[in-house]
Amino acid sequence: MSKLLSPVEIPKLTLANRVVMSPMCMYEVKKEDGVITPFHLVHYGARALSKVGLVVIEATAVAPDGRITNQDLGLWNDQQQNELTKLIALIQSFGSKAGIQISHAGRKATDAITPLAPSALAFSDTYPMPHDMTLSDINNVQEAFVAACKRAAASGVDMIELHGAHGYLLSQFLSPLVNQRKDQYGGSLENRYRFVKEIVVAVRASFKGSLWMRLSLTDFEDEGRQNSIADWQQIGQWLEADGIDCLDVSTGGLLDKKPTIPIYDGYQVPYAAAMKQAVSIPVAAVGLLDNPALCEHILQTGEADLILQGRSLLNQVNWLAQAAVDLHDPTFTAYNGSYQRGMK
Ligand SMILES: Cc1cc2nc3c(=O)[nH]c(=O)nc-3n(C[C@H](O)[C@H](O)[C@H](O)COP(=O)(O)O)c2cc1C
Repeated sequence: MSKLLSPVEIPKLTLANRVVMSPMCMYEVKKEDGVITPFHLVHYGARALSKVGLVVIEATAVAPDGRITNQDLGLWNDQQQNELTKLIALIQSFGSKAGIQISHAGRKATDAITPLAPSALAFSDTYPMPHDMTLSDINNVQEAFVAACKRAAASGVDMIELHGAHGYLLSQFLSPLVNQRKDQYGGSLENRYRFVKEIVVAVRASFKGSLWMRLSLTDFEDEGRQNSIADWQQIGQWLEADGIDCLDVSTGGLLDKKPTIPIYDGYQVPYAAAMKQAVSIPVAAVGLLDNPALCEHILQTGEADLILQGRSLLNQVNWLAQAAVDLHDPTFTAYNGSYQRGMK
């Protein structure tokens, strides 16, 4: 039996296997109302049928101007919540656990007329200039996070991931490159963490399920200018103390620049492994992990506890069935006998 395809218990969540569908925006909300469509039911339902342990729904915005584009999902009204409830029930009905990534795009909200950000620094020449958030804006966005997470909880999710990576609003606050505030939300690492901390503590008070945070552990900048690995380990420890159940470790997205680190299969795993050394909660790895043998190696060596699959699951819906064949794991059975006949 492989570790990859065998059940696992992590805090507040029992999964049939260690394969997690990574959150991926589909930009399929053509009506621009933030509401789940038949596309989302088929898209996520198919991954549940393929027995993904945990299906994480794409970045879903807490407010209209928190969307990356107007075709994103949102979770600020009853209609959005009602349709999410149906999607969650559908995913769970096939035996997968259902999660959602809750997000605010900050200065990367391309369709917002005046996006919000910790400081008035645009992402690039082609992005709108953001407005540096007042204390009242900070309070409003924090309340929007809490309200969206309450809606997610009411819709029946097993897991919520707060999007603290890829240069969206939470990661903008964490970074000294983008957060140049002079008040209690900027300056020292502790101050830059404050905006995230207040959200985590408030969400934790009401959400009883598994609460995750995604982080980018490098911005491809020179050491000394960006948060160091030691800084991220400190943030990981604070997040654990504040009630986060699992850390999902990614990289990049903060600045308008291509990765300067070498890109190879599993290239982000060393960052997950570094975080694992600092915390006692589970850590999830993501990024070019299409090869099942590599996934098994990461789990067996303890570099990470869970494996997120992104593009591989877009490309190959039944990735798990193929992984079972490749890993010679006879314990994995496909959804039904007919699907089983497809495994060879
Ligand atoms: C189409 C697409 C949309 C994405 N949208 C999101 C998103 O909504 N939230 C997020 O944290 N990452 C997003 N990502 C990044 C993926 O979750 C994942 O971290 C990345 O693709 C690397 O993993 P992979 O090599 O398995 O694809 C997206 C990636 C793709 C390809």
